[in-house]
Amino acid sequence: MNHVLCERNPHHPVDTAPRRSPDEPIERRTLTASAAHAVHTAATEIAVTFRAMPGVSEQACRTLADPRLIDLVDARATELPESVRSAVRPPATRAGAAVLTGLPLLDDDLGPTPQDWREAAAWSGDPARGRASFRLDVTMLLLARSAGEPFGWQGQQGGRLVNNILPSPGHEHEQSGASSTTLLCPHTEDAFHPQRAHLLMLGCLRNPDRVGTTVSSVRQVGLNEAQRHLLGHPRLPILPDVSYGTDFHSYPAAPIATVGGDESHPTLRYDPAYTPLDDADDEFRSAYDHLGAELERVCHTAVLDPGELLLVDNDVVVHGRVPFTPRYDGTDRWLKRVNVRLARDRPAAESAENGYGQRTVTPFGGRTGTRGAPGHGQTEAADDQ
Ligand SMILES: [Fe+2]
Repeated sequence: MNHVLCERNPHHPVDTAPRRSPDEPIERRTLTASAAHAVHTAATEIAVTFRAMPGVSEQACRTLADPRLIDLVDARATELPESVRSAVRPPATRAGAAVLTGLPLLDDDLGPTPQDWREAAAWSGDPARGRASFRLDVTMLLLARSAGEPFGWQGQQGGRLVNNILPSPGHEHEQSGASSTTLLCPHTEDAFHPQRAHLLMLGCLRNPDRVGTTVSSVRQVGLNEAQRHLLGHPRLPILPDVSYGTDFHSYPAAPIATVGGDESHPTLRYDPAYTPLDDADDEFRSAYDHLGAELERVCHTAVLDPGELLLVDNDVVVHGRVPFTPRYDGTDRWLKRVNVRLARDRPAAESAENGYGQRTVTPFGGRTGTRGAPGHGQTEAADDQ
């Protein structure tokens, strides 16, 4: 894509917008030792039980799609202590992000960082290499299921419910999770799609160079009325990112609104790297540039340590990653990511979007989790920010 705002030098308009303070920090939460033990025990028992089931192949552990595994996760997630569900509730402050500490993780269990997501998935299916990786996949599913409905994408990482985020040779400069030496621009995850996650979970397995993940909340930026008006109306499309391939041109690109919600509870749908900004007029680009500058101003950096989980409200926060030099020696940064759907409505207009043909993988069957019936919990938590 040509339109990479964070690599441009935007011309900021005269700033007449209110400047909100970014000083409300990222929440810090701790999983109690007993809750962490319960999650660890459940994940271990699921992994052992599932592998021992008749006919379970390495492929089943690679894809995580076997209905028997889903049923095990579904059942055990409901048995976890309430404190687990509380720990993974949507971020509750205007910062729109929370770091959860206390997940049990030993580096010795991990083995080397794989070279790419295919290798990571393959090793997860290989009991000799990936016992910890598979258990950690199950751990992520348990936590995600405690928050809502984990789902994947048919066109991304083979439809796997738990994505592996690691630097991959040949992808250093991409705007994707496989990149490294380039700045991963702040973006809404899967902004192009109406069924994008409400909540993102990024679990850190390894981060030896303390590479920062950036988060910027639309609820901490300042926009004046004219800017909100411009950004609140559909003007430009957002196209699928490179991790979905390039086979989407047969679908018409529909413009979407960048900023939604109301003034006190704005929402955001933003991915400048995949937005054809040159197609807009100066007035819109000026407002968009101002938004980008504000997101930069209110940016928080989360440096995740192993065993920490970053929760990102994907309707409120854009996330990115600072550049780093990949090692490619088995000790590289390694995150696991899960997309989570909550019982939260989006604007009705989004339901008419085609999503560029990308389809979700929903083995939990559209059930939004153990946190209660639709309309409870998640929606209120998001709106309370
Ligand atoms: Fe992302």
